[in-house]
Amino acid sequence: MQTSLPDTPDFPSQTVTVVPVPGESPKRAQSVATQLRLPCRDRAESADLSLVVGEAEAWLELGGVKVSVQFDSAAMRHRRKGGHNELLGRAVGVKADRKPSIFDATGGMGRDAFVLADLGCAVTLCERVPVLLWLLQEALSLASVSRYEHVREAAGRMQIRAGDSQCQTVAAGSVIYLDPMFPERKKAAAVKKEALMLQTLTDVQDAGDALWAWAWAQPVERIVVKRPLRAPTLGDQKPSHSLSGKAVRFDVFVRQIEQRSLG
Ligand SMILES: C[S@@+](CC[C@H](N)C(=O)[O-])C[C@H]1O[C@@H](n2cnc3c(N)ncnc32)[C@H](O)[C@@H]1O
Repeated sequence: MQTSLPDTPDFPSQTVTVVPVPGESPKRAQSVATQLRLPCRDRAESADLSLVVGEAEAWLELGGVKVSVQFDSAAMRHRRKGGHNELLGRAVGVKADRKPSIFDATGGMGRDAFVLADLGCAVTLCERVPVLLWLLQEALSLASVSRYEHVREAAGRMQIRAGDSQCQTVAAGSVIYLDPMFPERKKAAAVKKEALMLQTLTDVQDAGDALWAWAWAQPVERIVVKRPLRAPTLGDQKPSHSLSGKAVRFDVFVRQIEQRSLG
């Protein structure tokens, strides 16, 4: 599948090298490297961030740690079975008879977006880093033919947009979801490595303040921001309420749109 890429490729994703899955033909890796305008090598170097591309799978690899975007992985199914998704659902306002449309302005690895789609919401997710965008498109395309019916159904409710969310206008009635990067605290080695990969790919200086200002200017009645449990609130407004889990919290901003001037 050819992914349409945003016209703003000045991201540090140039530090990524595309390599083929060991033992497989390099053809697809070469084609993806050309598409993403990245260098292609024969094999991954452990100090470098690599996008490993095969005929049927792809992942990011750094220092031997692999991270893939797979919506029907055992981890995602475990998260679903254990009811770990409920807090996010409650934060965006999912109810038995209410499945809001979501604009996920920080697509990333698409996990939260998939959870929301699996809860029945139509989700538009936007990502500006070309490598992540490509992985998301791949994952969505595989999810649409998954052997799990709920995964196929959720994939059918997801749409991906390329580029900066701040260039998008969000339809009134949607909920905006933000999960900006936040400096990592001490965590398991694999999680730290995943955070490092994201930081290598994204603009770490952008702590989300500009996104917040953009979100607040949209004609939406609910904005949900994911934060580490003890992190300060994003933006200059007090949340209407917060929902806290073990490691993260969701700050929920609810407002009556007719009663305020936007901008
Ligand atoms: C912490 S990750 C989000 C993880 C995501 N919630 C998940 O479940 O995988 C933040 C992502 O937001 C993206 N991002 C940040 N600002 C953005 C913007 N203005 N437009 C589009 N994407 C943005 C970054 O490139 C990064 O991939």
